[in-house]
Amino acid sequence: MRILMIGDIVGRPGRRAILDNLSYIRGELNLDFVIANGENAAGGHGITREIARELFAAGIDVFTMGNHVWNKKEIFEYIQKEKRILRPANYPPGTPGSGYNFFNVGAGPTLAIINISGRVFMQELDCPFRKVDEILKEIDNKTKIIFVDFHAEATSEKVAMGWYLDGRVSAICGTHTHVQTADERILPKGSAYITDVGMTGPRDSVIGVETEIVLEKFVTQLPRRFEVADTNYQLNAVMVEVDESTGRALEIERIFNLE
Ligand SMILES: [Fe+2]
Ligand SMILES: [Fe+2]
Repeated sequence: MRILMIGDIVGRPGRRAILDNLSYIRGELNLDFVIANGENAAGGHGITREIARELFAAGIDVFTMGNHVWNKKEIFEYIQKEKRILRPANYPPGTPGSGYNFFNVGAGPTLAIINISGRVFMQELDCPFRKVDEILKEIDNKTKIIFVDFHAEATSEKVAMGWYLDGRVSAICGTHTHVQTADERILPKGSAYITDVGMTGPRDSVIGVETEIVLEKFVTQLPRRFEVADTNYQLNAVMVEVDESTGRALEIERIFNLE
C-alpha cells in the first residue's frame, strides 16, 4: 500500500499547491491513500467545512490536525460528524472529535491513522507516549497498517517517539515545524520515520507567514497580526510504501516540489 503524507497545508498558496498537483502526484506515484495535515489550511489558522470539502475533492482522504485545530469556531461541531478529520489524541477526555480512526483503502486492508501531539514547547497535553500505547492496545489486531502523525515542536521528542514506536506501527511522520527534515529512513524494526514532513504553503515566507510582518516583529518586539504570505508555493510530503501482510514499511520517499 502506498500512502502519501502531506506536510501542513498553509492558506491559499498551500491549497493551490494541492489543487494544481495532487491528482498528478496521485497517478504518478500510484498512491492508494492520501493523508494531509490541515491545521493551517484556512488562512493559516484551522480548517473550515468549505475548505475541507474542496481539498477532499482534490484527492485528500483524511486530515490530521495539531495545535491550530480549534482556531475556527465551526470545527467544534464539524469534527464530531466528519470522521475524516482527526485531532491530536492526547487532548483531555471529552474533547470533540477523535484522535485515531480506521479507514478503508479500496478493496485492500484497513488503515489506522493516529494523530498525536508533542508537549515540549507546546500545550501541556496528556503524555503522548502513554496515549499512543493506549491506542495501540485498542487497535489490537484490527489492522497491522498503522500511520502516525506526531505533531510536535522539539526534534528530540519526535526522534524519541520514532524509537518508541519502531516495529509497532508502519510509519511515524512528524509535522508542525513547517521545515522539512532530510532524515527520512526505515528504522531497524521496520517503521518509516521522518522528523518533519515540512510545509505545503507559501515558499517565500517565514514558515508560511508574510516575511515582512515576522521580521518587523522580531526586530521591534511589537505585536503584529500574522498573515499568510501570498507567494509562490512549495509542496512537501513523504510517500510511504507498506507491506500489507506485515504492516512494515518498505520505503519512504521525500517529496519537495516547487511551483
Ligand atoms: Fe502547522
Ligand atoms: Fe502546529
